[in-house]
Amino acid sequence: MSHAQSGILVAHSKFGLFIEAMVVGELEALREGCQKFMQSLSDLQKQFPDASLGAVVAFGSDLWKKLSDENSAPELKPFRPLGKGLAPATQRDLLIHIQSMRHDVNFSLAQATIAAFGDAIKVEEEIHGFRWIEERDLSGFIDGTENPQDDERYGVALINDGIDAGGSYVLVQRYEHNLKKWARFSESDQEKMIGRTKKDSVELDESERNVTSHVSRVVIEEDGEELAILRHSLPYGTASGKHGLYFLAYCSRLYNIEQQLLSMFGELDGKHDDLLRMSKPVTGSYYFAPSYEVLKSL
Ligand code: HEM
Repeated sequence: MSHAQSGILVAHSKFGLFIEAMVVGELEALREGCQKFMQSLSDLQKQFPDASLGAVVAFGSDLWKKLSDENSAPELKPFRPLGKGLAPATQRDLLIHIQSMRHDVNFSLAQATIAAFGDAIKVEEEIHGFRWIEERDLSGFIDGTENPQDDERYGVALINDGIDAGGSYVLVQRYEHNLKKWARFSESDQEKMIGRTKKDSVELDESERNVTSHVSRVVIEEDGEELAILRHSLPYGTASGKHGLYFLAYCSRLYNIEQQLLSMFGELDGKHDDLLRMSKPVTGSYYFAPSYEVLKSL
């Protein structure tokens, strides 16, 4: 039986740490790095049992082709720019996603990870995310209300059979918010743009929200079923400088994630998500997170 890497199904975390890197050394050094990373993760989980520490290593398509069975992750591909460049592609080789209740524990694992991979990788992004008040995004809206809960998360996030069982596709995009611009919209207009109320995150009826509202863009039904994804996004940044949402989602099918993106960036029907009037993605990559057992055997 295959198990998911521990960062995918974490029920709740207060802090997240996201590292994206290119591989610049030998594959053998990368493989060794993965084993050392797994050991450090297990040591820290034992040392700080109350932190609920979980982490994931995931691979971009070029790298995964070199490391894996050729039939693995058939949907995996490099991220391509969307919406005539509105969503840029900055595809990298490696994603390390760390989350827990403690920033200090996350940071210790990040240090151990950087040491584990050594000269085999060059870090391109390192973002420290935090859960903001009442689980809100910096736009002031509660983020995660409709995220799958409990056992539902397994079915949504994890591939359930075949050589990739326990694995998951991942999208990351770092969004930078323009909160000054956002504050110029009335609360009622913001609610129509998101598709939910600001205070309590109650969904607005379709007749009350914009057809271009975020909820209207990402809720897509096929054969009577909604295309679901599992989000672990977190706010990041500084109060005086750049800040926004580090968006991260896991899914058993890359298809679900991609359809939502195409819908947000006008590639399905020419309509763009209202969110993009206050926030813009500045990075974008797809990855595959193999099961714990596959990672161990690389
Ligand atoms: C829902 C914020 C990007 C997929 C939401 C909600 C908020 C939000 C406030 C409503 C509450 C909830 O159900 O969580 C944001 C912000 C983003 C962003 C601030 C970036 C700046 C994305 C992207 C995707 C996405 C890139 C998909 C690729 C979803 C989904 C839902 C959702 C699937 C649940 C819809 C439902 O079932 O009602 N988001 N989001 N979001 N978002 Fe986003």
